[in-house]
Amino acid sequence: MRKIIIAIDGFSACGKSTTAKEVARLLGYRYIDSGAMYRAVTLYFLDHLVSFSNPKEVDKALNEIKLSFIVNSKGATEIFLNAINVEKAIRKMRISESVSQVSTIKVVRKAMVALQRKMGKDKGIVMDGRDIGTVVFPEAELKLFLSADIMVRAFRRQKELLEKEDLVELDTIIENLQSRDQIDSTRKESPLVRATGAIEIDTTNITVDEQVDEVVRLALSQMLIKKWKG
Ligand code: CDP
Repeated sequence: MRKIIIAIDGFSACGKSTTAKEVARLLGYRYIDSGAMYRAVTLYFLDHLVSFSNPKEVDKALNEIKLSFIVNSKGATEIFLNAINVEKAIRKMRISESVSQVSTIKVVRKAMVALQRKMGKDKGIVMDGRDIGTVVFPEAELKLFLSADIMVRAFRRQKELLEKEDLVELDTIIENLQSRDQIDSTRKESPLVRATGAIEIDTTNITVDEQVDEVVRLALSQMLIKKWKG
């Protein structure tokens, strides 16, 4: 069957990555977590004391950054920053606290979008983020917009952080999610909005399996449409 692009956008902790990963595994597609790219850039900026508001420093840092995704022995995709596996480091709260600010920088977005388009050129990809269906792949055959209740999102994120031995108070998580939602959806560059033609899925009351089944069903129908169209 012809390969398609699946673009999944939505607010933080709505289950985008969990869904995207499993859908990619089931379809034999590549999974790319675009948020991990912005997080890795943020990690580099923080560790190298790059001033976010200094264009020269930002440009220099972007030239020094090399990002890649490698599939590990368990089949999970991990992000590497200058050949170092940073998959764990980028999920820490200190990164979550600055990533939305870094993501508002135009040149940062330009560099990430160029890389993301390159990764999707052969299709057969599931990418999740904030601007995938609107800016990165507006021509994606399947666009989804995930949402969920804030408390459910906060509990899910707290559990994920605990699994990574990061104990964070629920209030701190709620504040971070709300502040990132606000910055992400009101920024000038590629704000988080539902893309034209995107199908909305509210994940508040459904299980991961139900989410995945729904997306796979939608993907298969898009693939069939593509086949019929020739
Ligand atoms: O894991 P979570 O859903 O909380 O966030 P993420 O997907 O790891 O993304 C972290 C941050 O990166 C977001 O809050 C956005 O500020 C930014 N981002 C973006 O601007 N554009 C994307 N395509 C993906 C992420």
